[in-house]
Amino acid sequence: MADSGPASFLTRANAILRKNLTYQKRNIWSNVRLIIIPFYLCIVLVFVQGLFDSQVNNSVDNQCGCQCIDKLGDGKCEMICGLEYSTRDQGVFCAIPKPQPWPPLILIPRSHARAVDSSFTDESCRRKNSCPVTILFTGNNQSLGETLSRNLLRRSFTMTSSDLLFSLANNVLATTLKASATNYLDSGIVSNLSIYTIQSRCPPNSNFSFSLGQSPLNFTKEMRCVQGLNLWRNSSVEVNHEIFKGYKEGNSDGKISEIVAAYDLLDTDRTNFNVNIWYNATYKGEEGNQRYKLVRVPRLVNLVSNAYLQYLQGPGTKMLFEFVKEMPKQETKLRIDIASLIGPLFFTWVILLLLPVILNSLVYEKQQHLRIIMKMHGLGDGPYWVISYVYFLALSTLYIICLMIFGSAIGLKFFLFNDYSFQFGFYFLFINLQISIAFLVSSAFSKVETASVVAYLYVFGSGLLGGFLFRFMLEGSSFPRSWIFVMELYPGFSLYRGLYEFAQNAYQGSLNGKDEMKWKYFSDSEMDEVSYIIIVEWFVALIAAYYIDKISSSGNNPLFFLKNNNPFKKYPSLQKPSLQKQVSAVSVEMEKLDVIQESEKVEQMMLESSTSHAIVCDKLRKVYPGRDGNPPKKAVRGLSLTVPSGECFGMLGPNGAGKTTFINIMTGLVKPTSGAAFVQGFDICKDMDKVYTSMGVCPQHDLLWETLTGREHLLFYGRLKNLKGSDLNQAVEESLKSANLLHGGIADKPAGKYSGGMKRRLSVAISLIGNPKVVYMDEPSTGLDPSSRKNLWTVIKHAKKNTAIILTTHSMEEAEFLCDRLGIFVDGRLQCIGNPKELKGRYGGFYVLTMTTTSEHEKDVEVLVRDVSPNAKKIYHIAGTQKFEIPKDEVRISEVFQAVEKAKSNFKVFAWGLADTTLEDVFIKVARTAQAFNVFS
Ligand SMILES: *[C@@H]1O[C@H](CO)[C@@H](O)[C@H](O)[C@H]1NC(C)=O
Ligand SMILES: *[C@@H]1O[C@H](CO)[C@@H](O)[C@H](O)[C@H]1NC(C)=O
Ligand SMILES: *[C@@H]1O[C@H](CO)[C@@H](O)[C@H](O)[C@H]1NC(C)=O
Repeated sequence: MADSGPASFLTRANAILRKNLTYQKRNIWSNVRLIIIPFYLCIVLVFVQGLFDSQVNNSVDNQCGCQCIDKLGDGKCEMICGLEYSTRDQGVFCAIPKPQPWPPLILIPRSHARAVDSSFTDESCRRKNSCPVTILFTGNNQSLGETLSRNLLRRSFTMTSSDLLFSLANNVLATTLKASATNYLDSGIVSNLSIYTIQSRCPPNSNFSFSLGQSPLNFTKEMRCVQGLNLWRNSSVEVNHEIFKGYKEGNSDGKISEIVAAYDLLDTDRTNFNVNIWYNATYKGEEGNQRYKLVRVPRLVNLVSNAYLQYLQGPGTKMLFEFVKEMPKQETKLRIDIASLIGPLFFTWVILLLLPVILNSLVYEKQQHLRIIMKMHGLGDGPYWVISYVYFLALSTLYIICLMIFGSAIGLKFFLFNDYSFQFGFYFLFINLQISIAFLVSSAFSKVETASVVAYLYVFGSGLLGGFLFRFMLEGSSFPRSWIFVMELYPGFSLYRGLYEFAQNAYQGSLNGKDEMKWKYFSDSEMDEVSYIIIVEWFVALIAAYYIDKISSSGNNPLFFLKNNNPFKKYPSLQKPSLQKQVSAVSVEMEKLDVIQESEKVEQMMLESSTSHAIVCDKLRKVYPGRDGNPPKKAVRGLSLTVPSGECFGMLGPNGAGKTTFINIMTGLVKPTSGAAFVQGFDICKDMDKVYTSMGVCPQHDLLWETLTGREHLLFYGRLKNLKGSDLNQAVEESLKSANLLHGGIADKPAGKYSGGMKRRLSVAISLIGNPKVVYMDEPSTGLDPSSRKNLWTVIKHAKKNTAIILTTHSMEEAEFLCDRLGIFVDGRLQCIGNPKELKGRYGGFYVLTMTTTSEHEKDVEVLVRDVSPNAKKIYHIAGTQKFEIPKDEVRISEVFQAVEKAKSNFKVFAWGLADTTLEDVFIKVARTAQAFNVFS
């Protein structure tokens, strides 16, 4: 196969894109479910709207009334709608071509709340419900003020029914009802409460009644007299004080004494009319009543103007304020758009729901170590990030487009009444921010479950807080703008704000006819602020995510860009070792000549800086810092090793000896504490990315995508190794065949359904695809049945030709079969190196005699062995079974046989055997001596 060098950015991007697409194709149903969510929620909205329409919007009470009238008298009736056919509730919705006039009113305090007299002490009138209402005067000229106040109110009530409004205008009408919008008329007229006329003196029995308006908006009003008290005060300060004191909350002794209004006449004289008016504006700002409020203030102005006119011209002059009326109006219908009211909450959920999806997928690859294994096979960070980003962006965009299409198709005004490009622009910005945030926070999670829980809490929490807290703040006029800005920095709220504006626009639009939110209104709509916040956060989140990812992949150093230049840290061997250590080191190394030779070879190579060997490790050390009072753990203590291309190096060692740490160092997962290692001439501390392009790894635990098939795995990793076209297919086919995954269609079943052995074989096939120069296999044959294992061995043996393989195993048989050289690794050190034969020769040199008897005869067996060979050593003993090492030069096999035959006649021997040294014996021996030695060192 042609070796075409490392894969380019595009090739790798292509590989991961295709893998992702296949992965998503497998997960098609979860994707469909995801896309269905907006559809489903839109349907719910339509349903609620329909319910609301039938119960409220389209109910007979909420539109102008109609009746079937037989106009021609021929028994056929015709539907006619209009004010005259409506009930009072329906009348509000009818067309009103000629609105009704009504007399202007003043707001007066209710009887129990009125200021009683200047000192507010006499409360008897409160019980009798006959307290007067107070109007205060002040100004520069008291005599003028008193004249005007006399002109203000009349002594008697006059009314002619022929011209009702005109005669009412001569009186001062008032109500205790706060101003609000009711039926196109002042609420004081509409309500059942009486209307008051304020006079300077009330005659006894002064109740009148009158009717006003046309059916159904006609009212008969009871009119009662209330006495008006005009009082002079020396200054406006006094007036202020008095009004303040009488105010419900301002009164410390709990007595309310409200005042109708107050006039400050300032410097008014014959030539100059100048007034300030106090009036009660408590209900200012309540929805819909502003215009009525204004109607009640002008009457106060008119009163004082009239009084001034009479002061100038005499009592005959009048300036009447006859009536107030609305402008004519069209027929209206109640059109409350529920989607616009609850839309922001709903759609906040819909859009935020993408976050858990993205986050889960990112955390899944991290949790399963898939990201790192892809990296080891040459997928750099660049392509990974770019493709993941583009991929999630495409998914989110599709989701948003679906949402907009569904929403519009079923007629939600939320979508119809806002410009599409404007909406899309906003959503697009937000999903970009959302993806960046998912990248950013994914580094904080290592478990999919935790990430899911937190993400869903965020989704529902943000929606609810937005709907019930943030909305309240947006609508309350008193909430400081700067606080709203600060709250919008939280992405959930900035989304809510945008949706809220859309909804408001749609709501207004559905009440008043179509009114699109367009780009040209961008800055008026307050969408600009939110959009800028989103854009800035998007960049910040991206940069932070990139930075954090770099940190976590560069060994947790938050200042990764500051290279560590401390030479002593790098080469601790330069520091002077203590004398005692040196002595013990010598005594250890006396025995391990092979290990010394190896490290000399490495030193030689380092001097020549030769790259002829595929793997060169120079005094690698890894010390894990001590935690919780434990001493630091030395996992690897000065390992020197070279492996040429074409060699399979086997690493044996008891559990916890540091083999996996060593492999982790070599694959870039862990940074060595000191020492250096070169793979194909590239330093693993500096050029790991280059190392990855020619490396294969078969990790101890299978790292596979559950839903991808074996073939798809191999295609993906093959592409990462820059295989293309027919080369790729051929390589994949060969891999599948050699890994014995072809028959029975296993290759095309998802890896999640594989048995442990199949997964193992697939992992090995992955590590070997694309002819990597260096392959690490961490216990490749664990859990395999014997025939698969044999199969696997042939594959590895075959692959060995131009590859350097480092393999760890617990199977001596495997080591003997596969490896050209072996190293026994105990307590972070190589104890010996050599090919299996050499090792056996060196550490063997004895036979192993095993004999099983009843336990009483154990002594006899020992005597027998000592007879044959005085230097024999008992190495194993349990329940009648004993094992002895017998030095080869002391015995001949025939002697042993004879001795055993003789023994058999003396006592019962259940079983016995004599064996040449096996690798296992060597291993046990080396491991034992090394561990025993380490107890003292
Ligand atoms: C106050 O008003 C009266 C008219 O009511 C006028 O005669 C008098 O000159 C005014 N006094 C001052 C100081 O302007
Ligand atoms: C108001 O001023 C007049 C004369 O300037 C004075 O007699 C009267 O006591 C003052 N009233 C109050 C309440 O201060
Ligand atoms: C204004 O009117 C309201 C409602 O009647 C009342 O509660 C409040 O005390 C009044 N304020 C003053 C200053 O009289």
